Amino acid sequence: MKDILVTGGLGYIGSHTVVQLIEKNYNVTIVDNLSNSKIFILDNIEKITGKRPHYFNIDLTDYNKINSCFSKNKFDGVIHFAALKSVSESVNHPDKYYHNNLNSLLNLLRCMKENDIKNIIFSSSCTVYGQPDKLPVSEKSPFKEAESPYARTKQMSENIIEDFTNSISYLSAISLRYFNPVGAHHSGLIGELPLGTPDNLVPYITQTAAGIRQELKIFGDDYNTHDGTAIRDYIHVEDLAEAHITALQRMIENKMKSKYEYYNIGTGVGYSVLDVVKSFENVNKLKLNYSFSERRSGDIEKMFSDCTISNKKLGWNSKNGLDEMMSSAWKWEKNISKFLKG
Ligand code: NAD
Ligand code: UFG
Repeated sequence: MKDILVTGGLGYIGSHTVVQLIEKNYNVTIVDNLSNSKIFILDNIEKITGKRPHYFNIDLTDYNKINSCFSKNKFDGVIHFAALKSVSESVNHPDKYYHNNLNSLLNLLRCMKENDIKNIIFSSSCTVYGQPDKLPVSEKSPFKEAESPYARTKQMSENIIEDFTNSISYLSAISLRYFNPVGAHHSGLIGELPLGTPDNLVPYITQTAAGIRQELKIFGDDYNTHDGTAIRDYIHVEDLAEAHITALQRMIENKMKSKYEYYNIGTGVGYSVLDVVKSFENVNKLKLNYSFSERRSGDIEKMFSDCTISNKKLGWNSKNGLDEMMSSAWKWEKNISKFLKG
């Protein structure tokens, strides 16, 4: 049985990946400081899988604490999700983002080096491409100017990881560049848990439908798209989690063609904000309060992926459509308050 360290494993994408790792018989250790998650997620991972992963409440920016975790375990690989992820917060508090996201990564890589750990998968983002010149965006597209400090931490992290793979003979790494992860586990037991007012579209939609927010504001109706609203490549979080399993297998089975690989993880299909709202209303048989407002500053008009390379090299394909994303997101939203009350 292979031992995998999952940082940020109680967070949104991490928890879905932990579930699939356990289901594939990996032995999972989670490190998470609960800065953007709740401990009931650990109970719910156990409810889904019948197994409780090892869990350490450690802040990755504390080198001594994270190193103590490495000295007790011999990991076959690390999946590094832990990071702060709000684009708008990063614009106002770049210090917080550079400190947390870069120091966590550096500490982790240092521990890996000192303990001869060979494999790391990193949570990157399509924001590394900035405003791409052409769509769909493929891995061959260059990094353009980062649109936020958050995006810059992802570009810098990818560069740091590549440098480490060049300098450490046994180290391999894969960065997965996620497009827009949405939806929740089909059980309704884990999902995205925005603490405070959500920045992102889908949690805002579900909270509006649940009566927590009065109405959704759609940012911009004058984009050059089929209905005037902005386009993104939404990917079901369970499909995204599966991409980590395939990437891990590629590493562990020594199938990588170079020491550092990077892949787009999306569906290749772009949907507008109104497409998402309509799908949510249709599949859940609900009416959503919404109105149009000004464009949100920093938003781009369109973003969607070319996933030919990840489909071919990882042998991974997304399976779920927009309706499954919207029905699972709503199922989860209806359960959240019960779990938060405990
Ligand atoms: P999340 O906030 O739900 O999960 C991140 C987890 O990491 C949280 O549980 C948090 O408590 C933990 N964490 C943060 N800093 C830590 C630290 N210093 N030490 C220990 N634990 C720490 O976020 P998510 O949506 O699951 O995102 C996971 C990763 O994917 C992040 O790196 C994020 O930047 C990246 N990503 C997310 C999206 C998205 O839209 N959700 C898109 C692209 C990339
Ligand atoms: N939107 C609204 N109203 C809202 C929230 C969002 O109309 O209340 C619109 C946005 O303007 C945008 C679309 O919905 O056109 C998607 O917005 P999100 O905030 O959900 O997603 P973004 O594409 O802006 O960014 C997200 C994450 C980033 C990540 C990026 C790529 O926030 O962290 O996807 O993965 F890097």
